Amino acid sequence: MKAIYLTGFMGAGKTTVGKRLGEVLQLPVIDTDAYIEQQVGKTIADIFAEEGEGVFRAYEREVLKKLPTEHIVITTGGGIVIQEENRRFMSNHGIVIYLHCELHELFRRLADDATRPLLMENKQSQMKQLFEQRLPWYRQAHITIDTTNRTVDDIVETIVSLL
Ligand code: S3P
Repeated sequence: MKAIYLTGFMGAGKTTVGKRLGEVLQLPVIDTDAYIEQQVGKTIADIFAEEGEGVFRAYEREVLKKLPTEHIVITTGGGIVIQEENRRFMSNHGIVIYLHCELHELFRRLADDATRPLLMENKQSQMKQLFEQRLPWYRQAHITIDTTNRTVDDIVETIVSLL
């Protein structure tokens, strides 16, 4: 089976859904942010603060190419789709699943999250702009699942039925 890439905005549930999907499909799960943190030896917040977003985006490009492209669930950072190279890579090598979530629900879930640097830097209006800018890129996924008001098990069941 080709790699499954889970994409979506911060707070869409990629990590939680990915873990459960991995259990159900009995596949290993790797999170690109966690992988970068491990490789670099710093948190994402520190990478942003000390090295800048540009360097972080370069790490994201590298990590996608390093990870296996078969028999794996890969959960990605919300900004992975910004780079056309990443969109093309995921689309060519795996099944891209976009976890869509309505903005009002994302705001609710993300309130006061100190682990997400982009969130700390941006107010809600800017987050909205970011969300709208990225939406067309997220929508290039092979499969789109609306996660608003749905449980993790329900979402995973839908994904499995569509594979
Ligand atoms: C980012 C999302 C984060 C992380 C970084 C940048 C983004 O991942 O990669 O803070 O640009 O949307 P999550 O989507 O897991 O929060």
